[in-house]
Amino acid sequence: MVRAYFDNNASSPLMPEVLEAMRPTLEGAHGNASSIHQRGQAAKAALEQARANVAKLIGADASEIVFTSGGTESNNLAIRGIVGEWRASHPSATALPHLITSRIEHHSVLNVFEELERLGHPVTYLRAASDGRIEPAELQLALRPDTGLVSIMMANNETGVLQPVAEFAAMARAAKVKFHTDAIQAVAKVPIDVKALGCDLLSLSGHKFHACPGVGALYVRRGVRIQAMLYGGRHERERRAGSENLPGIVSLGAAARLDLADNARLAQLRDRIEQTILASVPRTGVAGAGQPRVPNTTDIYFDGIEGEALVIALDLHGFCVSTGAACTSGAVEPSHVLLAMGYPRARARASLRFSLGHQNTADEIDALLAILPELVQTQRRLVLPDAAPTLARLA
Ligand SMILES: Cc1ncc(COP(=O)(O)O)c(C=O)c1O
Repeated sequence: MVRAYFDNNASSPLMPEVLEAMRPTLEGAHGNASSIHQRGQAAKAALEQARANVAKLIGADASEIVFTSGGTESNNLAIRGIVGEWRASHPSATALPHLITSRIEHHSVLNVFEELERLGHPVTYLRAASDGRIEPAELQLALRPDTGLVSIMMANNETGVLQPVAEFAAMARAAKVKFHTDAIQAVAKVPIDVKALGCDLLSLSGHKFHACPGVGALYVRRGVRIQAMLYGGRHERERRAGSENLPGIVSLGAAARLDLADNARLAQLRDRIEQTILASVPRTGVAGAGQPRVPNTTDIYFDGIEGEALVIALDLHGFCVSTGAACTSGAVEPSHVLLAMGYPRARARASLRFSLGHQNTADEIDALLAILPELVQTQRRLVLPDAAPTLARLA
């Protein structure tokens, strides 16, 4: 039985009002927004209402919103779309443009850049400081006359650290370079105004803020041209072919209207977790403490434990949390984000992420805090210094 779900950065639950908004599209009021009959036109109206809501959430114009299948597609479309457009408009170029991103991006950004590097683009990966922040001076140093795109995330999915994205965007603009930000963990958690921010492209994803999984959007500033990735119909102003996911998009539009005032409560709950753990459990610390962070996320290390084992122990007590570790070829790899911040491997493996959503209550936090210190103590007794590699093989 799940007593409390603290893994909202992985996927957050549909809020009741979001479910209610999308229900008609699942119960008869379906239709293809491209059809000219009544049902089609109703679908089109629902789609455009959702587009207006999403645009309003980030200060964009509705025409600047492209619906996608989620954050991964939004990031791919932004990066590959800009690079593809450059290639199409420079058919006889002999050198490919230089690209800039950071080492702490989500894999839906990092892996795209790695592929572009294999295709011949020079890529610079900016470092993060030990507090998770990417220094604007690093970007200034990395910009070159042949740079074609900068992509740096707004909020990190593991630490929640917010980057100085407006500064990055201003630098990119001064250098006449396109700027994309993966804002998937920031949207609906901090106020965003794309015009004030000055970015050219911004990605968001529904299931990170209480809409459905499998739906997202890309903001493309008016006048910025991107090449579509999918060939097909002329949907989304020819930027994303394929019949739109009406229920998902309606859920995204409804989630975009949720009251964000509740974020202050989440910040208090998050702070309570940190203060209680740091005060009652020795050899713990918070990633990015002291830096501006989104209100719902904390990443805490518990030196001397195996993160995966503590996740399992918490799960047995009904609490869902996560590590930033990735399971590759049967072995648990520590988080690339924490390693990039200079964490030793053992500390990166001993880190847990607690990410809150609007469904979480103070009672749930109390229940977690009532049990966590004791579980850590038990784990520390269990994990002998040479047990870590064995546990990794077993995981
Ligand atoms: C920062 C960030 N970018 C991109 C993604 C991918 O989003 P999606 O799961 O919607 O494809 C995630 C999901 O965890 C994320 O946290």
